[in-house]
Amino acid sequence: MTSLKHYHYTTYLHSIRVAKLTYLVSKKLGLPKEEQIYNCKGGLLHDIGKVLVPVSILDKPGPLTELEYEFVKIHPSYGSEMLKIFPSLKDLVPGVLYHHERLDGSGYPFGVSIIPLSAQIIGICDSFDAMTTKRPYNEKRLKSIHEAIFELKTQLQKYNYKIVEALEEVLREKKGNQQHFISI
Ligand SMILES: [Fe+2]
Repeated sequence: MTSLKHYHYTTYLHSIRVAKLTYLVSKKLGLPKEEQIYNCKGGLLHDIGKVLVPVSILDKPGPLTELEYEFVKIHPSYGSEMLKIFPSLKDLVPGVLYHHERLDGSGYPFGVSIIPLSAQIIGICDSFDAMTTKRPYNEKRLKSIHEAIFELKTQLQKYNYKIVEALEEVLREKKGNQQHFISI
């Protein structure tokens, strides 16, 4: 995480927010404590592979070229290979490797439709955070929490409804504390 913090601070902050949401959603879903913690760690490290994606691509304000997008699409594989080096982190590999896969097979890097639960939770929290926090490519399209949840719910071919509902519940419970999620 230190290397990610120095390489791309925006992704580092995003990872901390996703880890926190992933933990709370896992808890809301009633998963065993051990899984809550694994998923939280997976959320923290889900984008670690981005240390191998050029910053010029990560910070590009406009749409990516096909080649640039190919670079981005490799980051889950890079990340999982990095985790495999450390035996204590091997259980986090599925969450990291599949976090951009979608239930309709439209995701990457493999385009599979059977996705580990940890990766589904991380993926939904990741998408939510990407929609609700400033990125170079979305400053004009930043969504409110309500709009982001609505968008997730309108794409249930891609996202697990139970997880989206759990996320909505977590956010509702924290409503009086919204800045907590946004300003980390
Ligand atoms: Fe990612």
